[in-house]
Amino acid sequence: MAIRYQFENRIFTLDTAHTSYQMKADDYGFLLHLYYGARVYGNMDYLLTCYDRGFSGNPSDAGNDRTYSMDALPQEYPVMGVGDFRNNALIIRNVDGSDCCDLRYVGHETKKGKYGLPGLPAVYADCGEAETLEVYLEDRISGVRVTLLYGVLEEADIITRSAVIENRGKDCVTVEKAASACLDFLTGSFDMLSFYGRHTMERNLQRQEIRHGAYAIGSRRGASSHQYNPAVIVADRHTTEESGRCYGLLFVYSGNFLCEAEKDQYDQTRVLMGLQDDLFHYPLEPGEKLAIPETVLSFSDQGFGTLSTRFHRCIGGHICRGRYRNAPRPVLLNSWETAYFSFDGSTILKLAKSAADLGIDMIVMDDGWFGKREDDNSGLGDWQVNEKKLGCTLHELTEKVNRLGVKFGIWIEPEMVSEDSELYRAHPDWILQIPGREPVRCRNQLVLDFSRAEVRDHIFGQICGILDQGKIEYVKWDMNRSIVDVYSMETCQGKVTYDYMLGVYDFLERLLQRYPDILIEGCSGGGGRFDAGMLYYTPQIWCSDNTDALDRLRIQYGTSFFYPACAAASHVSAAPNHQTGRSVSLHTRGVVAMAGAFGYELDPEKLSEEEKETVREQVWQYKSWEMLMLRGRYYRLSDPFSESFAAWAFVSEEKDRALLSVVMLEMHGNMPVSYVKLRGLDPESVYRDVKNGGRYYGADLMEAGLPMPMELKEYPAYQMELMREA
Ligand code: GLA
Repeated sequence: MAIRYQFENRIFTLDTAHTSYQMKADDYGFLLHLYYGARVYGNMDYLLTCYDRGFSGNPSDAGNDRTYSMDALPQEYPVMGVGDFRNNALIIRNVDGSDCCDLRYVGHETKKGKYGLPGLPAVYADCGEAETLEVYLEDRISGVRVTLLYGVLEEADIITRSAVIENRGKDCVTVEKAASACLDFLTGSFDMLSFYGRHTMERNLQRQEIRHGAYAIGSRRGASSHQYNPAVIVADRHTTEESGRCYGLLFVYSGNFLCEAEKDQYDQTRVLMGLQDDLFHYPLEPGEKLAIPETVLSFSDQGFGTLSTRFHRCIGGHICRGRYRNAPRPVLLNSWETAYFSFDGSTILKLAKSAADLGIDMIVMDDGWFGKREDDNSGLGDWQVNEKKLGCTLHELTEKVNRLGVKFGIWIEPEMVSEDSELYRAHPDWILQIPGREPVRCRNQLVLDFSRAEVRDHIFGQICGILDQGKIEYVKWDMNRSIVDVYSMETCQGKVTYDYMLGVYDFLERLLQRYPDILIEGCSGGGGRFDAGMLYYTPQIWCSDNTDALDRLRIQYGTSFFYPACAAASHVSAAPNHQTGRSVSLHTRGVVAMAGAFGYELDPEKLSEEEKETVREQVWQYKSWEMLMLRGRYYRLSDPFSESFAAWAFVSEEKDRALLSVVMLEMHGNMPVSYVKLRGLDPESVYRDVKNGGRYYGADLMEAGLPMPMELKEYPAYQMELMREA
């Protein structure tokens, strides 16, 4: 039993293989957080202390007890208006304009299996793998009921949290702010690790101390954003890759989010993860409910490496769905950096011929195949094949490609419309726009109001019309701007950001139901919507519009803290690189791209015969290692932001096979030698280097490391496959 309830003292304990989580409904009915961390065995309510604290109020039912204050006690779901002045998880605006909701425990239920959230992505599990706890809290005056949902995946060491807010009262209330998880720490000093960035340079790691005063990251861009990823780690100050305590919070949502951290007046730390409160005022009429997207939690006392493994497994096995869940993906050749908008049917066919010659499984016809779309200023919304440009129908093109033994994939951007398009001319009122104001343009395109079913239905019909024309086995779903004009002609304003996202999810779900075998790759100008919400529908996401191998090492490093390698699509592109102008060898570009869902984005006809041979070898190698990368454990072996090399490894579950990859980042005269230390091997086993027959004990490679060769060239890369000897 992962979930236990003690009737006498109303303590709830959620146990996973290595962690415990505890809370208590106290005598007043407040739900107090007691503990989250490594396994413990007793009742942790002895940790609670109460003192008379100046300027920290006391609920009236505490009578003359001035020591009982919500301002000092650790809570599961802190609310505005009951005397807790810290950041809170919930703000309810009542019909009289007051911001108050006094939530007290009224009951609970435990269930087998993992709860789901209608219309929202969420962790799923078999009935035997998970249990659910629902705790009901109510505000007597407004009639607001909050159901706190806890999903416990015992073996996976995962606890999920969500909340459903329900208006059971007589008057309308407005949800002004709502989080799905709060972690209150009574003691300790923590760092927060977050992942910031920008277009073409996503998910840089920042580590900083959580101090007094509020610290927040989030997005109000309509998507989870390039700028901050909805995933953070809270760690003891000395925690490293291999040791120390740390907590991960991963938001399963692709829209606006807010993550707050604060050290309070008594040196207690609070961390919240939930919906962004800006641009959000969600009215609930009597009888209505609102589900808050869930947060996945995990704890490790063995450093970031173990924490990452737990999240990789959770995403790979309990968030990604469908045929490509933990399964090999086609190696693809994408037309974008190859030809941009300048292509016709014969260009695509040439790519397919090259793909066949090089062993590449699929070609992807990226942007430019529909409507009037010779550049990015027009055509979005007109999802009809430009047969004049292609010189044939889509059906003919896919047939020809397929006859070469190559699969066919296509690019779409369903949420957008160009002003210069038939769709916009016919339905100018279908965009998000504030009445009387000109909408803000971005990439010269506007955002369709996906909160409206009729808008979605129209686009859905068009997209299906395309996908039904030929054998299309992959779709790249793009979203190339941020949302500014948060106003819908139909939907109530405070709902738009949330309902828009639910509209996108609804569309994706319908697409998956209708085309269960199509692999959908998420994309938003690269990694602008790289999150666990999208991964529920799209098992891989274009990691970044930056394909420069050196920059990619850092982007992929940051991405790896939460997301498995197979989730991050990664391509070998041309040299010099189109984003940085840097030239890196084809070998090194291949090694870097192989740390993700592998593919190419260059013109194979421009490659020499020798380079083509290298590509054939890379594709073959990738395929031979793909299962190891999908099923094995991923290890970060260096920090490419601060060390002179980037190194990572995949080690099989049985520890009988490993793949080490290293890229040297610096070259100086008369340099010190770099030693790379492996991890995750069996110390007493002997491993053989598959290429040169070298033999090493696991312990030797892990304790002393391997010296890297010093070659007189820039950014050399090495890969070493190790097999355990019988
Ligand atoms: C975005 C994507 C690119 C490409 C272009 C097409 O920027 O990230 O990979 O598909 O759109 O316009």
